[in-house]
Order: sequence, then structure tokens, then C-alpha cells
Amino acid sequence: MATSREESVPLRPAREFRNIALTGFMGSGKSTVGFFLAEILRFELVDTDKVIEERQGRRVTEIFAEMGEHAFRAMEADLVGEVSRRSGLVLATGGGLILNPANRTRLRQSALIACLWASPETIFERVRTQSHRPLLRGPDPLHRIRELLEERAPVYREADLLVGVDFRHPPETARFIADAFLTARQTPGSP
Ligand code: S3P
Repeated sequence: MATSREESVPLRPAREFRNIALTGFMGSGKSTVGFFLAEILRFELVDTDKVIEERQGRRVTEIFAEMGEHAFRAMEADLVGEVSRRSGLVLATGGGLILNPANRTRLRQSALIACLWASPETIFERVRTQSHRPLLRGPDPLHRIRELLEERAPVYREADLLVGVDFRHPPETARFIADAFLTARQTPGSP
């Protein structure tokens, strides 16, 4: 009896790499790296926090305080739905956006997902003088960073690309991601 060998081989669904989504913890440098990456690839930069702030006419902190985190997460999900239909975008995502499984599924359909990985100490150094992150406003931000990072790490680590940024400057990180993206685009079904 003729058997088709191909039929028994599980086929990996082809991924479409039309966009790049940068994920990672607050303060890992997604907006800055996104800026350089968009320059290199001549893509449009979409910074999800900024778009939401512009549309709402208020800062993320105010949205959290006045409407609640749940409302903010719904705005993120709507925006992901919108941008996933587009091409040629670098998405600098808010640090919690990728935690929503629906956002992950949608982003994976259109984008290479690159996570910027920074240690809690690096993050703390970068955010200690800033006050615009509602989730890090408690009395012991370093402890909170460690807690949240540990909780989120399994999801962040699911990215196609995990890039350590403790010892890399943003332009170097951007170049690295651009090269990986261009290679992945030439390899059907990768990574
Ligand atoms: C958040 C990260 C923030 C912003 C909001 C919530 C998070 O963005 O979306 O404060 O849950 O990690 P950045 O990662 O750009 O700081």
C-alpha cells in the first residue's frame, strides 16, 4: 500500500515576518532600540504606550489611576489587533502587553518577537529616577522588579529571540535584531 511519508511529518506552520515586536520588562530599552531598528529597516515605529497616551489624551499613570489597569490592557489588546493587520512596523510594546495570550497569538501571526533581557539591577538603575511607571511606584522598587520579572520570565522567554542588553548599547542591539529578522524572512517557516 502506498503511504505518503509527508503526511506523517508534522508541518510547522509558516510564520509571516511582516513586523518586529520588541518585548521585555519596563526599562529594558524597547523604545530606544525600536527607534534605531526602525531607522535601519526603514520601518515605522509604533510605541504602544505612546499611541495609547495620544489617543486617550493622558499619561499611562493617569489611565491606570482613573480607569484602572483592566481598561489599559483592553486598549493594548485593541491596538495589537489593529497593528497586526499592517506591515513594515517595529512595535515597541509596553512591558505587560505580551502577557495577554491573545496578544501573543496575534503578534506571532505577523511579527518576529524579540525580547530585550535586562537584569533586575540594570532595570532598577534605569527606572529609579523615573516616576511614570505605575507598577513600580511602591516603597521597594528593586524587590518589586525582581518579583514581577520572575513571574513574567516564562512568557518573555517564549520570544523568537532573546537579546541580553546589560552590556549592549541600543544601536548594537538594534543591528543584531535587524540581522536576525532579515535572515528569518529569507527562511520559510523559521525560526
Ligand atoms: C507596563 C509597562 C509600561 C506600561 C505600563 C505597564 C508593564 O511600559 O505599559 O506602565 O506592565 O510592564 P514600558 O515597558 O514601556 O515601561
